[in-house]
Amino acid sequence: MRDAAPKTIYLADYTPYPWTVESVDLHFTLDPHATRVRSVLRLVPNPAHDQEHPDSMFLHGEQVKLIQARIDGIPCDPVVTDEGLTVGVPDGPFTWESEVEIDPANNTALEGLYMSNGMYCTQCEAEGFRKITFYPDRPDVMSVFTVTIDGPHPVLLSNGNPVKTGENHAEWHDPWPKPAYLFALVAGDLVSHHDTFTTMNGRGVDLNLYVRPGDQGKCAFGMQALKASMTWDEQVYGREYDLDLFNIVAVDDFNMGAMENKGLNIFNSSAVLASPETSTDMNFERIEAIIAHEYFHNWTGNRITCRDWFQLCLKEGLTVYRDSQFTSDMRSAPVKRISDVIDLRARQFPEDQGPLAHPVRPESFQEINNFYTATVYEKGAEVIGMLKTLVGDDAYHKAVELYFDRHDGQACTIEDWLAVFAETTGRDLTQFKRWYSQAGTPRLSVEESFELDTLTLTFTQHTPPSAATPAPQPQLIPIALGLIYPDGREALATQVLEMTKETQSFRFTGLEDQPVASILRGFSAPVVLKHDLSQADRRLLLTQDTDPFNRWEAGNMLGREAMLAMICEGAAADPAFLTAIKDIAMDETLDPAFRALMIGWPGAAELATVLHEAGTTPDPEALYNAGEQMRDAMAETFGDAAADLYARYSVKHPYQPNADQSGKRALTNAMLAFISHHSGTATAQEQFDTADNMTQQISALGQILRHGDAGPALAAFYDQWREDRLVMDKWFGLQVSAAKPQDAAATAQRLTEHPDFNHKNPNRFRAVFGSLTAHHAGFHHASGAAYTLLADWLITLDPLNPQTTARMCSAFQTWKRYGADRQAKILAEIDRILAAPNLSRDTTEMLTRIKGA
Ligand code: ARG
Ligand code: ZN
Repeated sequence: MRDAAPKTIYLADYTPYPWTVESVDLHFTLDPHATRVRSVLRLVPNPAHDQEHPDSMFLHGEQVKLIQARIDGIPCDPVVTDEGLTVGVPDGPFTWESEVEIDPANNTALEGLYMSNGMYCTQCEAEGFRKITFYPDRPDVMSVFTVTIDGPHPVLLSNGNPVKTGENHAEWHDPWPKPAYLFALVAGDLVSHHDTFTTMNGRGVDLNLYVRPGDQGKCAFGMQALKASMTWDEQVYGREYDLDLFNIVAVDDFNMGAMENKGLNIFNSSAVLASPETSTDMNFERIEAIIAHEYFHNWTGNRITCRDWFQLCLKEGLTVYRDSQFTSDMRSAPVKRISDVIDLRARQFPEDQGPLAHPVRPESFQEINNFYTATVYEKGAEVIGMLKTLVGDDAYHKAVELYFDRHDGQACTIEDWLAVFAETTGRDLTQFKRWYSQAGTPRLSVEESFELDTLTLTFTQHTPPSAATPAPQPQLIPIALGLIYPDGREALATQVLEMTKETQSFRFTGLEDQPVASILRGFSAPVVLKHDLSQADRRLLLTQDTDPFNRWEAGNMLGREAMLAMICEGAAADPAFLTAIKDIAMDETLDPAFRALMIGWPGAAELATVLHEAGTTPDPEALYNAGEQMRDAMAETFGDAAADLYARYSVKHPYQPNADQSGKRALTNAMLAFISHHSGTATAQEQFDTADNMTQQISALGQILRHGDAGPALAAFYDQWREDRLVMDKWFGLQVSAAKPQDAAATAQRLTEHPDFNHKNPNRFRAVFGSLTAHHAGFHHASGAAYTLLADWLITLDPLNPQTTARMCSAFQTWKRYGADRQAKILAEIDRILAAPNLSRDTTEMLTRIKGA
């Protein structure tokens, strides 16, 4: 179906589109298999297009059947290919009209216009609009859309403000020029949870959360999060909402979390529907963050959009940064920062240090959907954070203000973004820009020397070369640093060093005693820090550092060293680490959420990365066994304290998903694991039986699965929740995560035979296979059974849903770390997938990159 040799698109090849589209009128006549789309575009020559003006026009279009076309009212005869059409056009302005037919009911790729449980919905980012009609489907073509919809549905929605709405017919007008990727349409039998918001300038806004009948009880939290986001963006960034209406729609079949379509956000139902009985504390926090993220896009993404898809981080990095600021303000800032770094190391570091490494702003791609990555999003957000650290809060807000003023209504680049910072601060950001153009995680090492009253820290940075960046140059690294005396007093409060060279020394004088350096406070740069400290120094930072992130990091490093000693030297679990963690867990002066985060040790995926970096081949089974041994030892160390803490922090009040209660639940559930470990599952069973919320119920079920006879509890859970798709996703996922390594693949396989398994639903597919790939020892079990099972299913899913298939391929990206047997097994599976007939461009690109040159 696709070209034999897929095309590579380059940033360097950008040219403006020869026309601007002054207005778009779309008319939809909905039908499951034969939806008609009529479109009228008013085009005028684009003054920014400086080459000779073409006499033919190209419009994107894929899987759309052209019924008729006219230019200036006269029928014309375009040349149509798989990718679009070309048609001769007059000089000067003209009108393009077309009518096409599409088949939403057969659209299993969930891109363009498709159906989910009988409702119509759309996903157009990045290049889905071309599956709806012929159009210049590129983000720098911004236009004013008017949309009419005819169809036998009570709810008919599109972007902007309603001109006319009613049963079977609706008209919408969006006054804000936008690229086609922000277009949306929803039609179906939906019910709305309604509210209102008054903006800072007194504009009344109607808010609706549209859901399937039966889901009304899961809307209140999302609505509250939306209103909190609207208020926050006014207060912190001065951004006001700009339409009379803001709609959110929940959809069960969706490839990602959510989408910021102008005035009509479309959400994966897992990213918006919440109730205490069905959602965990983590679900609530994630939902709050995603609602904020999509809402914040209204300014960072929609009012100011991207010139081309290479600039994706312009909107995503900034918007992730903004949503993390929001969560920090709504909840605990240290806990949010620590969680974000755990996530960055688990998802972005492997990407940046493996065959899929690419710069935050990539310079080429074959399939843009493959670049909605942790690097673009999360490292992109880290880059914004570093910029703010370097220029300071006031300058940051001044620059961002200028960005909004200058670029409102435009499609912009990273150069535009950096220019407002350069201008408002007078800084030269040439070197800083390398964070956007170079792939790879910098390694930062530090040597210390102390003489008389002077500490000298000598930093060296090195970024390993990669296919994407063969010759990395030194980065500008902001190093937030403090000094602590051995007696716990602070010798130097946080200051930010700016490292620009490959090797650079910084001196600190007038010291009374040799201090311990607390380096990279708040994780001030996305680098791998190598700082050799004694155990005693790490314990000092763990207990005395004024920076909460580095307190956590000191514990994390102690845990890492303890685990490595167990894995590499067969050592017992380090008693010093065990008691240090127990002491933190017992420290009543600390936030329970922070204590819960401290009770842990690096997981297998992180340890595999560390071992690989040190030149050792990780053995997944050994990593798993060390984790089990550590759990034993930790349970032993806590002893009766586990039951004490469990009792003391059990939440007796009615369930609230707030930071305070969820921190306490996290702490008691950490204790429940230890209790179940040394005294069986009676406590877990009681928690399971009496739980009135999903956090308590599912965490009890997890312990019963790990330590007891899970049959009855699993069956009870199934009977209770079989009608709830989101809860059933948990039921599927947990069984895989809790399986012993040797049983993980067989468990996943058995679950795919369950009548409720449906590989066409991305949430259900990910529940099983996302859990399998996250189960390090299970996925990498020596039998290779999990590799084969995953490959079988990727081959099945690819023709239906290339996006979700391609995304799941990243499970194979770490293949080079492992021993020859596993490498051979993984490569054989990759080749088997690549040999599948008509493999999608998405999956082909991913697997080819993973294999490497
Ligand atoms: N812009 C959306 C968001 O971050 C995500 C769109 C993802 N699109 C894709 N093709 N993967 O909120
Ligand atoms: Zn986004």
